[in-house]
Amino acid sequence: MIYAVMNQKGGVGKTTLSLALAACLARTGARVLLIDADPQGSALDWAAARQRDPLFSVVGFPRPTIHKEIAHIGQGYDHIVIDGPPRVTDLARSAIMAADCVVIPVQPSPYDIWAAEEVVKLIEEARVFKENIKSAFVVNRKITNTAIGRDVADVLANYPIQVLKATVTQRVIFAESAAQGLAVFEIDPTGPAAAEIEAVAAELKEYSK
Ligand SMILES: Nc1ncnc2c1ncn2[C@@H]1O[C@H](COP(=O)(O)OP(=O)(O)OP(=O)(O)O)[C@@H](O)[C@H]1O
Ligand SMILES: [Mg+2]
Repeated sequence: MIYAVMNQKGGVGKTTLSLALAACLARTGARVLLIDADPQGSALDWAAARQRDPLFSVVGFPRPTIHKEIAHIGQGYDHIVIDGPPRVTDLARSAIMAADCVVIPVQPSPYDIWAAEEVVKLIEEARVFKENIKSAFVVNRKITNTAIGRDVADVLANYPIQVLKATVTQRVIFAESAAQGLAVFEIDPTGPAAAEIEAVAAELKEYSK
């Protein structure tokens, strides 16, 4: 399965969710490749900060030819996760064309919900060539017990894109683990962040089947 974690808006959690998803998939023994398609190279930085054995492979490929080369790059892997770039449209298009399932993190703010329009348009364009491409919103940085956190799923339901039931809460462990090149479950295996990420990964696996 090839997942592309995309959103033209910056800072919504693409890299955080890409790494978390790749780690979850790898944890079950699958061979996982994370393609860093962002010229900023944040996922590569994460891999460089890591001092333990790798959980999965990370390669940088910030070029608009991913869709053409993915079969070659991804040889021998069970799952591929593409960490998408913000803004750069030709890279985003290519990453979407490479994917079976596009995962769109959105923060529960009106600006983020409006900005999602852009990636929705790119997916609609790609659908002309890839009829069966799947796409799902994941609400990230939800703040517990706030009305905006609850309403966001209702608003997102207006787009022609699945909204995952599983959501990810705003938690400092995501930044703390990233700084050390670790997955959240490596720091706190039984904690709420690890459980939320597992739930997102499980729902995505089921949805993208
Ligand atoms: N659920 C969360 N709880 C707390 N912090 C988070 C959460 N998700 C992401 N962050 C933090 O928000 C910042 C932006 O996240 P991230 O880098 O994953 O976004 P991005 O969409 O990849 O950004 P860019 O568009 O620049 O590539 C990071 O500092 C990250 O640690
Ligand atoms: Mg990023």
